[in-house]
Amino acid sequence: MRALYAVFSGTGNTLRTATLSAERLRALGNEAEVFSIKKGAPMPEIGSFDTLIAAYPVHGFNAPTPILKFLKKLPEGNGMGAYLLRTSGEPSKLNHASGISPKRILKKKGYRVLGEFSYVMPYNIMFRHSDGMAARMWSVAEKMIGEDAVSIANGEGTLIKVDPIRRFAAFAVRIEHPAMPLIGRTFRVTDSCVGCGLCASDCPQGNITMKGDRPSFGTDCVGCMKCAFFCPKDAVRISLLNAWRVNGAYTYDGEPAQDDEVCRYLHKMYVNYFHEHE
Ligand SMILES: Cc1cc2nc3c(=O)[nH]c(=O)nc-3n(C[C@H](O)[C@H](O)[C@H](O)COP(=O)(O)O)c2cc1C
Repeated sequence: MRALYAVFSGTGNTLRTATLSAERLRALGNEAEVFSIKKGAPMPEIGSFDTLIAAYPVHGFNAPTPILKFLKKLPEGNGMGAYLLRTSGEPSKLNHASGISPKRILKKKGYRVLGEFSYVMPYNIMFRHSDGMAARMWSVAEKMIGEDAVSIANGEGTLIKVDPIRRFAAFAVRIEHPAMPLIGRTFRVTDSCVGCGLCASDCPQGNITMKGDRPSFGTDCVGCMKCAFFCPKDAVRISLLNAWRVNGAYTYDGEPAQDDEVCRYLHKMYVNYFHEHE
């Protein structure tokens, strides 16, 4: 097998899971390459692969625009096997609705969608998970990724059906797609900004330009949060979403949270997810 992981990732969670999945696939005797989706980057040579894994973070119960645009630009699949790999901040079934559009596009293009894999990773918006939560999420993801790589290697997988209520809920919050460019346009920096330019050089949409020693935010934001998350001075203010800003990379090597240390928010859902997969 020669697999291509086409990954859109804002703050690194999805890239981390896809990179490990590719490593596991290689360990099983296959070839695997990881391609990061960035606006304006040339398309990879799909014809030299026999399996495609499209990886994305869930944004508002949907797949973010860059992965959908990437899939729409793919050449005809002619029956090539494809998988979805996604990460989300919570183990809610609503997140499965994010697979609807990618699956539809891939099928229309003649790809055989064979399975979809979901891993819970710490939130990059809304609130910061504890280091213990991040460590436990990663240890569960590591285990699942190993098992899922075996399925990919065998050309196996499961497709997730989404009931009409969840479909509707996900459809309703798709407003995020048109809204993010408007909200992103009004991101600002505080006086703590030192003009290092990291946000501008790292934006996967190329949406941030340095004007003198200050970043200026354009109209192509998809809300990936990379600028605010990795700002070394926590200087980026994300407009209407600012109360949900999360800053600073997670370390995944701490002591995994025990059940009674699992966050209060959706406590039962997280505990059930951990128990189901550990
Ligand atoms: C704009 C936005 C919307 C999000 N919406 C959801 C969501 O609907 N459900 C969820 O579980 N997580 C949601 N998340 C959390 C991310 O899916 C999660 O943290 C993911 O692992 C981030 O991946 P990345 O680091 O590859 O960007 C959202 C994150 C952002 C930035």
